[in-house]
Amino acid sequence: MLRLVLVFSLLFTLCLSSSAQNCSTYTSFSNNLAFSSCNDLPFLNSFLYWNYNSSSGSLQIAYRHTGVTTSSWVAWAINPNDLQTAMIGAQALVAFQLSNGSMRAYTSPISSYTTNLPEGNLQYSVSDLTATYANGEIVIYATLSLPINTTTVNQVWQDGLVSNDSPGQHSTANSNTNSKGTLNLLSGQSATGSGGSSIARNRNIHGVLCAIGWGILMPIGVIIARYMKVFKSADPAWFYLHVTCQTSAYIIGLTGWAIGLKLGSQSTPGVQYTGHRTIGILLFILGTLQKDLHFAYVFALLIRPKKDHKFRFYWTIYHHSVGYLVILLAIINIFKGFDILNPEKKWKNVYIGVIAILAIKAVCLEAFTWYVVLKRRKSETAEKPPQGMNGANGANGHGARPTYV
Ligand SMILES: *[C@@H]1O[C@H](CO)[C@@H](O)[C@H](O)[C@H]1NC(C)=O
Ligand SMILES: *[C@@H]1O[C@H](CO)[C@@H](O)[C@H](O)[C@H]1NC(C)=O
Ligand SMILES: *[C@@H]1O[C@H](CO)[C@@H](O)[C@H](O)[C@H]1NC(C)=O
Ligand SMILES: *[C@@H]1O[C@H](CO)[C@@H](O)[C@H](O)[C@H]1NC(C)=O
Repeated sequence: MLRLVLVFSLLFTLCLSSSAQNCSTYTSFSNNLAFSSCNDLPFLNSFLYWNYNSSSGSLQIAYRHTGVTTSSWVAWAINPNDLQTAMIGAQALVAFQLSNGSMRAYTSPISSYTTNLPEGNLQYSVSDLTATYANGEIVIYATLSLPINTTTVNQVWQDGLVSNDSPGQHSTANSNTNSKGTLNLLSGQSATGSGGSSIARNRNIHGVLCAIGWGILMPIGVIIARYMKVFKSADPAWFYLHVTCQTSAYIIGLTGWAIGLKLGSQSTPGVQYTGHRTIGILLFILGTLQKDLHFAYVFALLIRPKKDHKFRFYWTIYHHSVGYLVILLAIINIFKGFDILNPEKKWKNVYIGVIAILAIKAVCLEAFTWYVVLKRRKSETAEKPPQGMNGANGANGHGARPTYV
């Protein structure tokens, strides 16, 4: 009940604040410019005003920052990549007053956290870039050419101090690190922070599901198959365990994959993660084939439990090689995903840790398996003549071990 009241009061406040934007009361722009939309940015005394024509992608803006001094720099940027890395990749418009009293306004593409905002070309063309300082307010004016049909952009804004006509690093206070959000240029709606945007949330869900499904459960399923089947008593339990594990991995991974596909269709025009996407689609195809193979195999076992040797031999080679390829591609793609999503470093480390543990386990089990197999072979050779051994298995690289599938 209390929660409900809280939610309603939050919604009410949101409605109130969006209908009573302070920005709309300000109209004293230079050259009598007028803007059809504006937004009170939630941090750093900032306001954004704009006119936008989505069929041409032309975005005319005024970014107004109040409460500054003549030794402040201010910046407003669009980050075409994402909001988690708000600063890296930001296409920034920067302005401050030079010591001789004139205003400097320029563009700066940001590629490092320790930048002092050097001038450079943006990935959008920018025209009419000017800035004014008056009464403790800096206003930056510019017209940007965005990709046609852009509706939502990631915006980032910032301030800091200037020394010797050069911008210094900004503070890392909360208001400086939270000054980012999405902005719908058509509706004027804005959302702050990365948690506030459903795209950012879906990216995290996509990352977690894919890492668990493709990147953790699938390798575990392989380990189960490879190292459990050496124990005769575990046959055919290991197979059903393997199929169950890979099927759950597939379902979880597929859910993550579908979210990823949706994210791909929502990404900013002009920004495509082609490599990640291609590997993702390849993984879907190979993973689906493997899953079908499992089902076909279970079905074949049910109707004809006798093991047809030749069929099993080729089946095994195919299934193993595609399986290892899937694991390899999945791990590569998860690391590509980490680079795109750029979550806190600890998550990447957690994943590296899990993979390392699985790899160490696999190495130990591999050694143990060889030990068991060689020992068994020795005792079998002692009892039986050597032609009792399974000669066909040498070709698939696991020659020393009896193959049950
Ligand atoms: C909007 O105006 C009100 C009253 O003048 C003020 O209290 C509030 O801080 C302003 N909000 C912003 C974002 O400047
Ligand atoms: C928007 O841009 C298109 C294409 O350049 C142009 O034809 C149209 O007149 C523009 N609309 C406005 C309101 O300026
Ligand atoms: C101030 O210095 C900049 C470059 O350092 C120069 O372009 C500008 O014309 C100067 N302004 C005045 C008023 O001297
Ligand atoms: C922009 O959107 C319009 C209307 O939805 C569509 O007809 C047009 O093809 C789109 N243009 C581009 C370059 O995507």
